[in-house]
Amino acid sequence: SKLLLINGPNLNLLGTREPGIYGNTTLKDVEDQITKFANENGMELSTFQSNHEGQIIDAIHDSRMKYAGIIFNPGAFTHYSYAIRDAIASVDVPVIEVHISNVHKREEFRHTSVLAPVCEGQIVGLGITGYKLAVIAFKERLSL
Ligand code: DQA
Repeated sequence: SKLLLINGPNLNLLGTREPGIYGNTTLKDVEDQITKFANENGMELSTFQSNHEGQIIDAIHDSRMKYAGIIFNPGAFTHYSYAIRDAIASVDVPVIEVHISNVHKREEFRHTSVLAPVCEGQIVGLGITGYKLAVIAFKERLSL
């Protein structure tokens, strides 16, 4: 089975962006680690990062028939993108929402996810381990 990892806006700066909140691991290291972890668990992983809402919507549309699931850190789009919510609702590919930081400990505007109601579940506040937990969740779901 194939999974798609999508990281949204500003996550290209992982490793240097607010390291006190997001840690020192770069996006490339995250992608490499999660690809390896997926492979060890019998799955393939493709990765995609974009700072652009429309490109993320296109990637969600294009995932149809190609991927068994999407691991998605939508960045700040989480909190207000109805267009991304509609895209997730429009495809039958299950999505697990991941946040590196504990959004509930942070500013009020981060406490709301407009995407969560159309996702399978949400993993929040466990650092980049959250991406691995999403791989495990898909593995169990796909009962590999
Ligand atoms: C984030 C949390 C969001 O509120 C923020 O806008 C991000 C990263 C996280 O991974 O903790 O860009 O999704």
